[in-house]
Amino acid sequence: MNLTLKVWRQNGANDKGRLESYQVKDISPDMSFLEMMDVLNDQIIVEGKDPVAFDHDCREGICGSCSMFINGEAHGPGRGITTCQLHMRTFNDGDTIYIEPWRAAAFPVIKDLVTDRSAFDRIIQAGGYVSVNTSGNTQDANALPIPKDDADKAFDAATCIGCGACVATCKNSSAMLFVSAKVSQLALLPQGDPERTTRALHMVEQMDKEGFGNCTNTGACEVECPKEISLENIARLNREYLRASVNPDK
Ligand code: SF4
Ligand code: FES
Repeated sequence: MNLTLKVWRQNGANDKGRLESYQVKDISPDMSFLEMMDVLNDQIIVEGKDPVAFDHDCREGICGSCSMFINGEAHGPGRGITTCQLHMRTFNDGDTIYIEPWRAAAFPVIKDLVTDRSAFDRIIQAGGYVSVNTSGNTQDANALPIPKDDADKAFDAATCIGCGACVATCKNSSAMLFVSAKVSQLALLPQGDPERTTRALHMVEQMDKEGFGNCTNTGACEVECPKEISLENIARLNREYLRASVNPDK
């Protein structure tokens, strides 16, 4: 496949940025999108120029690093997959592909396609954990029976990889799908119960502090989420937050 790539180049948060055009040739339809980006960068390096900066780590849909907007969609045109799981056979020979970074004030561009998503880390630090010291005292998992339905829902919420596609897709740059997945994962399990109130209050407070927008129930986040995290979690977060606001001492 021969392709024209329009890639966003931006040298830091204060640079205005621009789309630059590149031609890539003989791309195999079986390559992943990131392998195609590697070919592009090899070509740029051989020309003695600055390669395109993009995030990646696991390249198997687990780490959530490979965040790019491809032809106007977070993680590209596929559903339920990350950019690293997208294959070039999704495109046609001769296509022009637009590749841009996440665009949200809370995710400033570091360089080209790489954005700073440490706001998510700070939200987790505000309460997305269980404070139990289990060292040397680990319980058998079966000692704590959990209804199958709750376990399944908690597991589904726990599949969120923190990629930020929900924020990048949302017209309000809301982080509600991410925060709701992290709150739900623990709210559904007995282990998460003791810190349930402070968790909901602190994580939402940090989310607002980071400058994410409000949720207006559009649902675009659910459509573009590579892990298909359900909007049902946002409803649960709203209930958790309301419950915590009414009874902050419980
Ligand atoms: S909810 Fe989905 S889109 Fe948002 S951070 Fe988690 S995995 Fe990514
Ligand atoms: S590189 Fe880890 S999810 Fe894509």
